[in-house]
Amino acid sequence: MLYQRSSQLFTEAEEVIPGGVNSPVRAFKSVGGTPIFAKSAKGAYVYDEDGNRFVDYINSWGPMVLGHAYEPVVSAVIEKAKLGTSFGMPTALETEIAKLAVSMVPNIDKIRFVNSGTEACMSAIRLARGFTKRDKIIKFAGCYHGHSDSFLIQAGSGAITFGSPNSPGVTAGTAKDTLLASYNDIQNVKDLFEANKNEIAAIIIEPVAGNMGCIPPQQDFLEALRQICDDNGTLLIFDEVMTGFRLAKGGTQELYNIKADIVCFGKVIGGGLPVGAFAARNEIMNYLAPLGPVYQAGTLSGNPLAMAAGLAMLKALNADQAVFTRLEEKTAYLEKGIAKVLTSNNVLHTINRVGSMISVHFDANPVFDFETAKNGDNDTFKKFFHGLLVEGVYIAPSAYETWFISDALTYEDLDFTIRAVDKVSKDF
Ligand SMILES: Cc1ncc(COP(=O)(O)O)c(C=O)c1O
Repeated sequence: MLYQRSSQLFTEAEEVIPGGVNSPVRAFKSVGGTPIFAKSAKGAYVYDEDGNRFVDYINSWGPMVLGHAYEPVVSAVIEKAKLGTSFGMPTALETEIAKLAVSMVPNIDKIRFVNSGTEACMSAIRLARGFTKRDKIIKFAGCYHGHSDSFLIQAGSGAITFGSPNSPGVTAGTAKDTLLASYNDIQNVKDLFEANKNEIAAIIIEPVAGNMGCIPPQQDFLEALRQICDDNGTLLIFDEVMTGFRLAKGGTQELYNIKADIVCFGKVIGGGLPVGAFAARNEIMNYLAPLGPVYQAGTLSGNPLAMAAGLAMLKALNADQAVFTRLEEKTAYLEKGIAKVLTSNNVLHTINRVGSMISVHFDANPVFDFETAKNGDNDTFKKFFHGLLVEGVYIAPSAYETWFISDALTYEDLDFTIRAVDKVSKDF
């Protein structure tokens, strides 16, 4: 059996960890089967406990944009660990990474580091509410901004996968302050502003959505949001947890030349350690404690190991900005190759891609929001997922996830993947 040891480990884990996993989407619920237990990873490959090797398109759900066990990150963490793993006092390292991040990303003066993307988004809306003195926020159906209460309202990703987008435990009081709009539907947003005059603190958006598969913003959509925010004294929050330091050095603000008021980061910024961050211009960031009245804190925030990993990662991306072009070219190559074999095997599909975010939807119609994303054929996706695993290719175990391409992938790896897609899709 291919995954015997993983199966045993899962059974053991289920005894002591709810569902056997520490984050629900790892549990394979939407694709069936037993989760594969990772043992190690290097470059473009992840190795499981049974000794199988997979070409990895999850890359820890995004952080490993330069591949696994990237040497400068690993050695930075080892060296720092020898000096102590946490102090609860400020360190020079935090200022160093903050300076670098602020120099790479447009329109931000200050940045605050936290421990996850969830914390970053949760803190960003508290800051926006405090700054504007308003309560309501707009989020888009199918976008995921972490698991804090205000966002578990038709959240994407794992929450869709489990068919319970409105999680029990989120109070009606909290939910009423989150207004829902459809992605790429500007009229919908205008209507919400009309109905909630002077009440909306912020719009939060994944500027390229990645939690209902990859969904690009349509022409002028982000510009229109910017305008509406300016007209109404509302802050525009870009959740760049997935897109930040991946689609461009300065994220989607740079890619589309649009200014956000607050930007949230996670994933790549920590180089694979638990890091999130949120950033804005001085006027907004100075509202945060200890300078201002909006409270936000963390025992392990700015942890030296996490900061060392993040700094090594950002330095590498800053020093070699051609990486973003290479990622784009590799992903475009993959897109073309997959489209060709799926077409020749008569599989109905739509492929969405922006830079190194890509997803294959098993539906021939355009996919531009949560409703159209839900039209994908999940039975086909399940066969696709398990077929690819057998061929040695690991994609996210959910039809609602983007694939994350890393620069460690070679063109041989991409050809290997395209051949695997060809083989698997012949049997659909
Ligand atoms: C766009 C986006 N925002 C926020 C989050 C939450 O980040 P974390 O899982 O680090 O809490 C995620 C996680 O996948 C995400 O994709």
